[in-house]
Amino acid sequence: MKRRLFLTLIAAATATSASMIAAPVAQAADEVKIGFLVKQPEEPWFQDEWKFAEMAAKEKGFTLVKIGAPSGEKVMSAIDNLAAQKAQGFIICTPDVKLGPGIVAKAKADKLKMMTVDDRLVDGSGKPIESVPHMGISAYNIGKQVGDGIAAEIKKRGWDMKDVGAIDVTYEQLPTAHDRTAGATDALVAAGFPKANIVAAPQAKTDTENAFNAANIALTKNPKYKHWVAYGLNDEAVLGAVRAAEGRGFKADNMIGIGIGGSDSALNEFKKPNPTGFFGTVIISPKRHGEETSELMYAWIKDGKAPPPLTLTTGMLATRDNVSQVREQMGLASK
Ligand code: GLA
Repeated sequence: MKRRLFLTLIAAATATSASMIAAPVAQAADEVKIGFLVKQPEEPWFQDEWKFAEMAAKEKGFTLVKIGAPSGEKVMSAIDNLAAQKAQGFIICTPDVKLGPGIVAKAKADKLKMMTVDDRLVDGSGKPIESVPHMGISAYNIGKQVGDGIAAEIKKRGWDMKDVGAIDVTYEQLPTAHDRTAGATDALVAAGFPKANIVAAPQAKTDTENAFNAANIALTKNPKYKHWVAYGLNDEAVLGAVRAAEGRGFKADNMIGIGIGGSDSALNEFKKPNPTGFFGTVIISPKRHGEETSELMYAWIKDGKAPPPLTLTTGMLATRDNVSQVREQMGLASK
């Protein structure tokens, strides 16, 4: 009797210790946790990125941790927090590209894989940190699409270019923003638009309110133009300029604003019964930036396959007349 009990106990103990050893290993292999940090969680573009990242998480079966990180401090504590939760990697759109070396060091110290999206980190001398895989938009070319679209519409309306002012909502500290507006400026000038009529309107932050303030100054200082056009790094920048122009009586007939993005800020504008000065947007892909980056990070963690060092995505110009077709073509229709 005694011996039987003893053997049973041994067997139970062996089974328990075996499962205790086996369990954490199996969990570590199976449970992938990925952070997705964005600089402006309130902006529709980033909401869309998160939505598509969630789709990847559902499909692949990993846990997605969404974190709004609008400051350097928030980024640093979020990375530590992810490490504490046993995440293996994260994707980030940083609030400031100059935080680059600090973020890289923090991720390394916490042994987390990292990939950037939208805004590419720079080193101390302002050069992109090429060791961190990145997915961004082909900023200069997309800016050119904006400029070409504005020039085509000016011509269609038969405006004399000398009577047209251009509000260039700038945010020079962000390289992708610089490249986008530079592309738009170059395309306009190439189409015959007078360079002297382009008014730089630097915004303090990349949101509608700051663009509105910047555009108001540009409008006040240049009362001589009969018509206006506007461009900037995203839809929010152009919406700010459009609202400022409206305030001074430049409505749809006298304003051509083309943004970049194609998320709700633009879609809501197109849904208004009457057209506004927000004429169009170059739709870019939150699906690729949210879903594909997450899948790449997942494959990196799971199979050790690192993402491509640099992926640049494209966009398509849409106006209120063809926005549905363009979204369909870009695989965004079911949103
Ligand atoms: C930057 C902008 C966003 C969006 C993304 C797209 O992060 O601030 O509004 O345009 O780029 O990559």
